[in-house]
Amino acid sequence: MQIPPFNVREIREQFPALRQKIYGKNLIYFDNGATSQKPQVVIDAINRYYAVENANIHRGVHYLSQRATTEFEASRIRIQKHINARKSEEIIFTKGTTDSINLVAFSYGELLNKGDEIIISAMEHHGNIVPWQMLCARKGLVLKVIPINTKGEIIQEEYDKLLSNKTKLVSVIHISNTLGTVNPVKEMIKKAHAVGAKFLLDGAQSIQHMKIDVADLDCDFYVFSGHKVFGPTGIGVLYGKEALLDAMPPYQGGGDMIEKVTFEKTTYNHLPHKFEAGTPHIAGGICLGTAFEFLSTIDLIESEAYERELAHYAEQVLETFEDLTIIGTAKNKTSVVSFNVKGLHPFDIGTLLDKQGIAVRTGHHCTQPLMDFYKIPGTVRASFAFYNTKEEIDFFAEALEKSINILR
Ligand code: ALA
Repeated sequence: MQIPPFNVREIREQFPALRQKIYGKNLIYFDNGATSQKPQVVIDAINRYYAVENANIHRGVHYLSQRATTEFEASRIRIQKHINARKSEEIIFTKGTTDSINLVAFSYGELLNKGDEIIISAMEHHGNIVPWQMLCARKGLVLKVIPINTKGEIIQEEYDKLLSNKTKLVSVIHISNTLGTVNPVKEMIKKAHAVGAKFLLDGAQSIQHMKIDVADLDCDFYVFSGHKVFGPTGIGVLYGKEALLDAMPPYQGGGDMIEKVTFEKTTYNHLPHKFEAGTPHIAGGICLGTAFEFLSTIDLIESEAYERELAHYAEQVLETFEDLTIIGTAKNKTSVVSFNVKGLHPFDIGTLLDKQGIAVRTGHHCTQPLMDFYKIPGTVRASFAFYNTKEEIDFFAEALEKSINILR
């Protein structure tokens, strides 16, 4: 299919939520880091599924069940192709990024031994910290943290020092949800592999902002949430290399993940079902496929460039404010601008922006250690998607000025 030239107006028209007014003002949705809005095709697919397609999958001989199974598996293949995984069996449906990381922490963790080391970075989301802490406590492993510099970049020399033959896994966020830093993960993956470690790439903030190619990246695991990539909540993906997933024990037991159950012994299903116990989020899985179908109509190279431009423009505008500090000034940065205004609490700024129809996130953004590093309680965060515009940023700047004046 020929992909049309990137056109933000045409894209916006497909998102009904963007047409609404909040407190009588046009909604400006700058909270895409938390979740994305949904295009009409995804909303229609959800409605259609529950209206006429609803059935359980992998179980029924009847028409509806077989159709739902076919659509669910077609969605898996669509996602496999989108991220360039070798096989659809390497795509495991989960509840979301956090669930995917917990799956790996539990299951890959079962293959590790006391004293083995796991490396994360200082800019990780809690979802990529706590599961490893729990695993380390359970199995006697050691968690190491790569420090960052004040721009919000991982210090590569420190990473090099932490890597050793004790390192069994490196787990790093691709794009920081708080700072917008794009980490140089391809090089980091190579370095992890050089010491025999596996690499988990947290794609919660990258799948929606750039073309992902897991074969090219050569990551061992790539995880993301459906709701951040224009799909439904409650569904996500764990991509893992087949040999690795095959070697890992099941995470949860139950229906669908078994081959044969007796009271004496149970044997497990093959991939991907081994990791999908119980009835999955069928509507979510199918409609996540629709979200990727929608993405396939957008030129992701152009949209990435456009989002970088938006973030850069927002930074330029914010830099004109007195007493405003941008948190996260990495050289390679996209889609997120976090900031603080001297003497004002992020929550108060966020509340006044909301009253002007602008949705931003305030607080620690599930990165408390990162807030401790910057010695701040939180930030105001504007996070963009390809449906945002420079006009919205101009309006946001005016609203921010008004809010600061009210609070001072
Ligand atoms: N991780 C999401 C965010 O950054 C919820 O807002």
